[in-house]
Amino acid sequence: MTSPLAAEAMARCDALAQCSEETGAITRPYASESLRRAQALVADWMRAAGMAVARDNIGNVRGRYEGLVADAPVLLLGSHIDSVRNAGRYDGPLGVVVALAAVQRLRDERRRMPFAIEVIAFADEEGLRFRSTYLGSRALAGALPAAELERADASGMTMAAAISAFGGNPAALADDRWRGPAPLGYVEVHIEQGPVLEARRLPVGVVSAIAGQNRYALNFKGEAGHAGTVPMNGRRDALAAAAEFVLAVEAEGRAVAALVATVGQMDVRPGAANVIPDDVDLSLDVRDPEDGERLQSCGRLLERAEDIGVERNITVTVKPMTEHAAVRCSPRLTEILAAAIGQAGYEVISLTSGAGHDGVVMASLTEIAMLFVRCKGGVSHSPGESVDAEDVDVAIDVLGRFLDLLARG
Ligand code: HGY
Ligand code: MN
Ligand code: MN
Repeated sequence: MTSPLAAEAMARCDALAQCSEETGAITRPYASESLRRAQALVADWMRAAGMAVARDNIGNVRGRYEGLVADAPVLLLGSHIDSVRNAGRYDGPLGVVVALAAVQRLRDERRRMPFAIEVIAFADEEGLRFRSTYLGSRALAGALPAAELERADASGMTMAAAISAFGGNPAALADDRWRGPAPLGYVEVHIEQGPVLEARRLPVGVVSAIAGQNRYALNFKGEAGHAGTVPMNGRRDALAAAAEFVLAVEAEGRAVAALVATVGQMDVRPGAANVIPDDVDLSLDVRDPEDGERLQSCGRLLERAEDIGVERNITVTVKPMTEHAAVRCSPRLTEILAAAIGQAGYEVISLTSGAGHDGVVMASLTEIAMLFVRCKGGVSHSPGESVDAEDVDVAIDVLGRFLDLLARG
């Protein structure tokens, strides 16, 4: 039997799942109408938990639950409420609704902590619309360069214009950066997006580190031609070249133990069955818990792309999109989180995260810790994403215990 708070958290993830740009799928890009609807729901829930609500220029929704004294230090909780395309309903939102449940419990018990609690629903972590990750947390950390606001989405709209249309002032982003004493810490609850907790039959686990990642945009330019008349030997087939690169990416990921490398997006032009493709865009995502290994693999892959271009007389251009070094979680905060899990009666295991999280950026502001929640089959970034309400109950309980342990210093 799950607690009302856990049942409410699950229902809230369902409510957020209704906020989508597509019917029958969950797609909630940055600065979209669906994200606006999601923000309104989260703001209502924050107010219901007795929090003062603010929205900054990038579009983060921030709820604040005051501490025992006016200028108490601040503990940050939260996660993101944007999504990938055809997403699951827990990647991001679960972290926000569990944090809100922990605050709701304090409010119901009329308790205040010796620190204020700020729950942040970040506006863009996935980078789906502008291929730039962590917009929300980078704006808070003052790490969003003005040049990036000129990036355009698939429709040609710039990020600056999207921010304005979304109700923010792109020229005032710097006003929202974190000021004053550093936060006490940033703690994010997130689905594991991997198989370990399920295999170990555990509801939650702590995170030791978040893997570093590079993302690139590549373009392969060849020569269009009639599929029926151009001899095979004379072709400059951009798609065949790109396909050879995709297999090289897979081979690199298989050859280097802790590395993962993925081509997730490909756009083939002109896109007619009887025309040899001459213009192909593709994405490259490379991750590894070890920065040196990741950078070596990136080097090898970009070299391979160049070689394929020479071998096939194809022009290959590479555009670095994002790079984030691996981030270690705070031993201090993680120890408290581990103690809270132990107090709740569960074995504590520590995992590394192959997925990126806003904690990667928040680590530039304060110490970070993450609590992973078991998800079925480790499935994520897919409608098959699923968590048990009982595990959400455990996560709310553990986060509450964490707050109490942190309060006791
Ligand atoms: O791509 C990631 O690792 C995260 O979901 N943004
Ligand atoms: Mn994600
Ligand atoms: Mn996420």
